[in-house]
Amino acid sequence: MNADEERTQRRYDTSLDDANVEQAGLLEDHEETLYPKPNNGCFTKYIILLFITNVLLLLGLILATQAPCKDPTQAIYSPAQSEIEYETVMFSGSFGDDLTEYQGWPNDYNDQLWRDTYSALHISDEENSKLYNTTERVTIEGMEDQFLIGMDVFHQLHCLNVLRKSFYPERYNMSMYWPNGTLHHFNWVHYDHCIDLIRQSIMCHADISTLWFKWDEEHHRMKPQLNMMHTCRKFEKLRDWAFERSVTEFDEKKHIENGRVVTYPRPV
Ligand SMILES: *[C@@H]1O[C@H](CO)[C@@H](O)[C@H](O)[C@H]1NC(C)=O
Ligand SMILES: *[C@@H]1O[C@H](CO)[C@@H](O)[C@H](O)[C@H]1NC(C)=O
Ligand SMILES: *[C@@H]1O[C@H](CO)[C@@H](O)[C@H](O)[C@H]1NC(C)=O
Repeated sequence: MNADEERTQRRYDTSLDDANVEQAGLLEDHEETLYPKPNNGCFTKYIILLFITNVLLLLGLILATQAPCKDPTQAIYSPAQSEIEYETVMFSGSFGDDLTEYQGWPNDYNDQLWRDTYSALHISDEENSKLYNTTERVTIEGMEDQFLIGMDVFHQLHCLNVLRKSFYPERYNMSMYWPNGTLHHFNWVHYDHCIDLIRQSIMCHADISTLWFKWDEEHHRMKPQLNMMHTCRKFEKLRDWAFERSVTEFDEKKHIENGRVVTYPRPV
């Protein structure tokens, strides 16, 4: 028996002893004092009191089972709430041989993968009315009864894609610098915005999955292990739900007024 087992065994023995002592005490010496025989009038009162408490308890139980169990992370309404499902996922190390399809020097294939991670979408009047901040109508003819939203996961992924593209100015013509080397202020503001948006989201969701270390016998060094288990929302499910309601046209100068699409002139 090792030390741990011994300790567990001892704890078990002690609790057995305690139980024995209690049992002995209850059954023998203290029976009179623990359960005094009530006189009859008092006894009826106890029964009534007991009855009332039981009825209250039963009512409480019924109410408790009928009330929806509130998820504290879902205090703010989103029409996608009903689509949330969880799964455990082993993250890729995204390094060396352990790469994902989203990685690598940009090509048409991974560009398409990234593009397929976000979309704007339309929701109904009823869903819109439940939003913390209600939104505007979709500005496409025939869809004026629908309302336009984005989801922040998509905005964050879009922002991350913008940052990814900024590393390859030749391919995407999106650089922080003009060809003459001076700062492209407009693009810089966009990248700065994206970095901070992603920072806020990471802090907001505060992923507490644990990174661990393993001694590398061959190179005699500590190696952080990046293949971590995570509890994840099923992204594909949320994306499929959103893509079924996808809105692909957006023009910031269009607005629905009296049920009609109105286009405002662009500043020149
Ligand atoms: C969003 O909704 C909140 C609460 O109803 C309100 O205080 C806030 O002003 C709204 N924001 C905008 C930009 O309308
Ligand atoms: C690249 O983007 C700039 C604006 O950021 C634009 O003036 C220029 O025409 C673009 N060049 C190409 C080849 O698309
Ligand atoms: C660099 O190019 C940009 C865009 O063409 C221009 O606005 C800026 O004045 C140029 N700066 C210099 C120092 O030439």
